[in-house]
Amino acid sequence: MRLFTAQAMREADRKAIDLGYPSLLLMDAAGRRTAKRLLERFAGRKIVVLCGKGNNGGDGLVAARWLAHWGHEVAVYAAEGQEGDAAMAQQALRAHGLEINPLSAWKPQPHSVVLDALFGTGLRGPLEGFYAELVENINQSGLPVVAVDMPSGLPYQPHIRANLTVALAGLKNEHLFYPHRTACGRILLDSIGMPPRALDNPHLPELLSSANMRALLPIRPGNAHKGSVGRVLVVGGYRSYTGAPSLAALGAYRTGAGLVTVAYPADCDVVPPLEAVRLPLFEWNTANLQMARADAVAVGMGAGEGGVEAALAALGLARPTVLDADALHERVLRAYAQSGLPSIITPHPGEASRLLGLSAEQIARFPLEAAQTLAQRYPGLVVVLKGGPTVLAWTPPGTSETRMAVNSTGNPQMATGGMGDVLAGVIGALLAAGLSAWDAARLGVYLHGLAGDQSQKPGLLAHEVAETLPEAVEQLRS
Ligand code: ACO
Repeated sequence: MRLFTAQAMREADRKAIDLGYPSLLLMDAAGRRTAKRLLERFAGRKIVVLCGKGNNGGDGLVAARWLAHWGHEVAVYAAEGQEGDAAMAQQALRAHGLEINPLSAWKPQPHSVVLDALFGTGLRGPLEGFYAELVENINQSGLPVVAVDMPSGLPYQPHIRANLTVALAGLKNEHLFYPHRTACGRILLDSIGMPPRALDNPHLPELLSSANMRALLPIRPGNAHKGSVGRVLVVGGYRSYTGAPSLAALGAYRTGAGLVTVAYPADCDVVPPLEAVRLPLFEWNTANLQMARADAVAVGMGAGEGGVEAALAALGLARPTVLDADALHERVLRAYAQSGLPSIITPHPGEASRLLGLSAEQIARFPLEAAQTLAQRYPGLVVVLKGGPTVLAWTPPGTSETRMAVNSTGNPQMATGGMGDVLAGVIGALLAAGLSAWDAARLGVYLHGLAGDQSQKPGLLAHEVAETLPEAVEQLRS
């Protein structure tokens, strides 16, 4: 599954039609699926369908026809000048005996639900004049709104604020990234039967989903022992950041690591989980870290000023590594990129802003571009740019193309201290289990978000997410 831009979705539509798939079938499926989704939530209300002049309007006309056909009360308001498939949809609607009113005649009707089919991905600029006013009036009416594919007006202002958006054929950037995501309300993705060949575009970011992540789950053999399923070394801790390495250790164990060792400064009160091996050290150097047997390393969590030293010492172990928090420094990243070791960096927007010399706001606004820039700057390192949603990027060494992925799990309740430490442990465990850096990062991010989604209550704590990781693994496996 891919994440689309508006243009990429238009190209997919065109490709389907070029392959010989009749566009009217796409429109019929789009309208019918939207009608079904609307009824799941708003059955019993009068449905007012507002249609623009393009194919989004055509989808709306089809939805209106099916809704009327199924016996629901429907009123239709449409822009003039519809052509092609949308004109055919109008013809079919009239054949069903439905009247089409001019769009300018719409007034908010109490207890109705509005189906917004004004504009979809064909919008070429901000709405002005009549349409801007119409969108404002819809928003101010307080009526529930269901958007066909995309709330009209996005990604510009003004735009519809929908309660439900039925995303058709594929998710688009606006459905996942803030601030536009807020305007979509609840998002339901539906297939409209588009040929897979039309949708498959390897240049678009992969959308992480259960279908593609399930296959990456490590299989635990019947004769597994703690040394055979992955040993993780967690390196971190400093003054008041004594919880960070413990949370990473918990994340690693709950993801299936067989043995976790926590190396931490001997003068810190780090209390690793009972099941972890403790390695208090007076100095960060490779020889000291070699006392732990590890298949993979997670370094930097709460490591404070010692982060760079700890990460450079860990480099000497020559193991697949997750670099987090205080290990995320230019010198460290260059050294790991040059080493060719499978390595993953997990910056949040603040850390990415320090590395890129941009503001955290810019990073949060353009996460795809930020992650891609980091991946190109440090070829070979897998970038996990944490956020809502988390974005991944990787430029395989010796190539110029950056692979991108966007996570689909997780929720805003996960924005609490220690959550990133757990993630570093999760990814560390998957590296130790033998996954490649790209696979470990994608599966780790997906599972961590899925664990957070098990309980979306306010006050969610990082260790609670770690505790629900086994459920997430089970859910993904089933
Ligand atoms: N202000 C006012 N009007 C504007 C503005 C603006 N800023 N920008 C564009 N418009 C108008 C134009 O008149 C334009 O029509 P034109 O290109 O004929 O001049 C119209 O808006 C286009 O609006 P849309 O309906 O958003 O665009 P399009 O006709 O390309 O349809 C689509 C969009 C395909 C429905 C899209 O939302 C989508 O991809 N949906 C998912 C897939 C789907 O539903 N497919 C079935 C549709 S049928 C088919 O693809 C043929």
